[in-house]
Amino acid sequence: MANSEKFKDIVLPRHVGVIMDGNGRWAKKRGLPRYEGHREGAKTFRRIAEYASEIGIKNITFYAFSSENWKRPPQEVNAIMQLLREYLDEAERRQKENEEKGIRIRFIGDLSRLPEDIRKKIEEAQKLSEEKTKCTVSIAVNYGGRQEIVKAVRDIAEKARKGEIKPEDITEADIENCLYTAGIPDADLIIRPSGEKRLSNFLTWQSVYAEFYYTDVLWPDFTTDDFDKAILDFANRDRRFGGV
Ligand code: FPP
Repeated sequence: MANSEKFKDIVLPRHVGVIMDGNGRWAKKRGLPRYEGHREGAKTFRRIAEYASEIGIKNITFYAFSSENWKRPPQEVNAIMQLLREYLDEAERRQKENEEKGIRIRFIGDLSRLPEDIRKKIEEAQKLSEEKTKCTVSIAVNYGGRQEIVKAVRDIAEKARKGEIKPEDITEADIENCLYTAGIPDADLIIRPSGEKRLSNFLTWQSVYAEFYYTDVLWPDFTTDDFDKAILDFANRDRRFGGV
């Protein structure tokens, strides 16, 4: 069966968040340096991003680097940055192929702290794919959910200072419009592999009604079958949004 047909009769999450966890343990189990786990994890990212688009997911966001991850050893931080570089270079090389797939690439987070060359590549990748509408793949880098809310509050405070908005008129929509994810619906489903059951400052505002799916599989081992399981599990949840 074609991937596009697989889930045509079930309710798909409009936005899936993925916490790519377990790379370090995957490497350790094999006696490899941690960055080899991230390298393998980056391959899984490519596979799952493409697959999600094929089955009809409209928005998917991957947590690649949190605002707390700078505390890791420089060698590991550099290795993750290098993987982002390689992905961005590849996205440029394969522009035609990507165009056919209809994938829009977005980066969310405070990108100002990233190396200059990566920031340039991000701008190019976003520009090249901005017209694509099949699936928006967002990559969260130097991202923190609270930091994102602080940014939104600052933006709105600035508008209030200029007299463009009155404090009593501020709505949830005004805040949403100032998040990195402006224009992308709330997360319906958050997937976290590797056995951890935490949100870890990911999509804090956007996950208030999200369903959570946990699995013990480590991210580098996570397959399209594992993704299917999460999607089917989601389809069977009874979502009431505070109602009965
Ligand atoms: C968490 O696992 C994973 C990360 C902090 C890095 C994730 C980054 C990638 C998969 C590469 C991103 C590249 C692209 C192209 C998107 P961990 O290291 O905390 O695992 P552990 O808990 O087993 O130590």
